[in-house]
Amino acid sequence: MKTFRVALLANLKKNAPHWEGMPEDQWDDLDSETTIQAVSDAIRAGGHTCEFLEGDITIIDTVRKFKPDICFNLCESHSGNAREAQVPAILEKLGIPYTGSKVLCLALTLDKPMTKRVLTYHDLPTPDFQTFERVDEPLDAKMKFSLFVKPSQEGTGMGVSAKSIVKDETELRQQVRIMIEHYHQAALVETFIEGREVTVGMVGNLVGPVARRMPHDEKLPRIQAGLRFFPPLEVDLTPYLETDVVYDNRLKVALADQLNYLCPAPLEEDQVDELNWLAAAVFRVTGALDVARVDFRLNANEGWKPYILEINPLPGLSPGISDIVIEAAADGVSHTELVNMILETSLQRYGLIS
Ligand SMILES: Nc1ncnc2c1ncn2[C@@H]1O[C@H](COP(=O)(O)OP(=O)(O)O)[C@@H](O)[C@H]1O
Ligand SMILES: [Mg+2]
Repeated sequence: MKTFRVALLANLKKNAPHWEGMPEDQWDDLDSETTIQAVSDAIRAGGHTCEFLEGDITIIDTVRKFKPDICFNLCESHSGNAREAQVPAILEKLGIPYTGSKVLCLALTLDKPMTKRVLTYHDLPTPDFQTFERVDEPLDAKMKFSLFVKPSQEGTGMGVSAKSIVKDETELRQQVRIMIEHYHQAALVETFIEGREVTVGMVGNLVGPVARRMPHDEKLPRIQAGLRFFPPLEVDLTPYLETDVVYDNRLKVALADQLNYLCPAPLEEDQVDELNWLAAAVFRVTGALDVARVDFRLNANEGWKPYILEINPLPGLSPGISDIVIEAAADGVSHTELVNMILETSLQRYGLIS
């Protein structure tokens, strides 16, 4: 294996800006020093040179000084509605290769309603939805309670809690108000999918055409060659089933090491096939590259029909904690191997290795 100069680009939680009245979960998306250390160790274990560079505006100078062959991108950035696309946009301008999805995909998928519009166009199953830019917008007739209210442009369960499940007009307006006033963005309201919580991680790139609509005909080949799927992970929510449970910020961040993850999720082979196919389809229509994780809910009231909640083209890589890391481990792929698999997929895509 050839060796490369790799710049690891990420936003460290401890370097993030703070301000008065900042929501407590504001920077839960960002990386810890432990994660950065583990990812750089993994890249070095692959035989490469690796240096961490903070993914803020200083990157314009630091990355040019370091002169990497490729950047390993984990930047979530701090502000702006397309923030995950900011560093990749700089790298595009500088002509420096980087791992993972590009500007359009990163900007699109950070916006859940926009992503859902694309999924809907391709007839991919995602819960019915409506966005609210004002608290008093009338509710569409197709939107039947219970509903689920979340911010349009956050991740890591931010702004999500048991209160997100709303059962009537009063609760709906209350939650929508919180999203608009607290998170300063449109509220996304979805049909509440009661059921199981499953996520599918994958590494690779699709081969074949990517601009067509999904085939309706079941007999047509399902295009997913080139992707390696890890076994689905289920978040076992049963211990927290006091009332209605969601995989919220408290569960994701505070209890990450106490949660019971079922991996591989106890699913039939044809259910896994269906999830993989849907995950590949989402990967394809959002233009994802190299790595992603797709979150689903399986509807208890429709024979566990899978509904796509979102795609994460920058899945967390915290050893032993992040979903895709757990999934890879269930397939015998270590954290070091996973990181190098992503890097090699990307190097291949840029034609830097064959
Ligand atoms: N329509 C929905 N029905 C039921 N639960 C939902 C729905 N949307 C989100 N959730 C719950 O909220 C969690 C976070 O939502 P998600 O859309 O994945 O956002 P993120 O992970 O970016 O915060 C999900 O993992 C799930 O537990
Ligand atoms: Mg999610």
